[in-house]
Amino acid sequence: MEVLIREHAEAGCILGAKIIARVVRDKPTAVLGLATGRTPLRLYQELIRLHRDEGLDFSRITTFNLDEYVGLPATHDQSYRYFMRENLFQHINIDQGRTHVPDGTAADIHEECRSYERKIEAAGGIDLQLLGLGRNGHIGFNEPTGSLRSRTWVKILSEQTLRDNSAVLGSLAAMPKHALTMGIGTILDARRILLLAFGPAKVRAVERMVEGPLAAICPGSALQLHPRATMILDENSAAGLQYADHYRWIDSQKLPWQRYE
Ligand code: F6R
Repeated sequence: MEVLIREHAEAGCILGAKIIARVVRDKPTAVLGLATGRTPLRLYQELIRLHRDEGLDFSRITTFNLDEYVGLPATHDQSYRYFMRENLFQHINIDQGRTHVPDGTAADIHEECRSYERKIEAAGGIDLQLLGLGRNGHIGFNEPTGSLRSRTWVKILSEQTLRDNSAVLGSLAAMPKHALTMGIGTILDARRILLLAFGPAKVRAVERMVEGPLAAICPGSALQLHPRATMILDENSAAGLQYADHYRWIDSQKLPWQRYE
């Protein structure tokens, strides 16, 4: 794992946007895996700025989002399809037909999961998968103790996740309890992983993901298996890391071609 610690989330998001922008410039037909939630919002704003001010071109980019709530139509203001349109897609020159979010209203939800996997494969696989990290260590909506080899599937959200996300949805009662999510196996197939985790609430999950044992109790720890995973943290989320100084040292010794900024 490449662990990059920045003082604040702001610098972390700008760095994350730089990494994605480089992928988009190097491969204008890249396939990006995207995430929702609070963490990537600032990163998306920076991508929008790079598009507007520097002409970053998304016209041939394809995207696959990690997850979607079961039962929420794309028009629902809490659906992840809606989130993506509001916070990124409508502000850049992406072809909406190339953007994919699992359909939480599909009549045959299991077929929707299988078909999502087929679409990712047909697109040539994901070049870079952006991830956030749940307070309980989840990635996508793969909650603790789910299979580390899972493919896109339907998951029941943990009570912790329901509580964390109900702030956005207004109330616990309004929260859908199920979601379609890429599996951990799907995520690990991406050629590159970029995970962002900020703030003190993520400290324990970060510690277990980076330095803990590889274990289904912390789904994020599966990323230890990935040959090209970059974790961008802030001082708060990195506060529990035993080897924080080692990661800083590595970061400071990079050769010019290994640097992003
Ligand atoms: C979002 C997703 C989730 C979030 C995680 C962190 O598509 O799959 O795993 O990344 O719950 O959420 P925030 O960023 O709101 O703390």
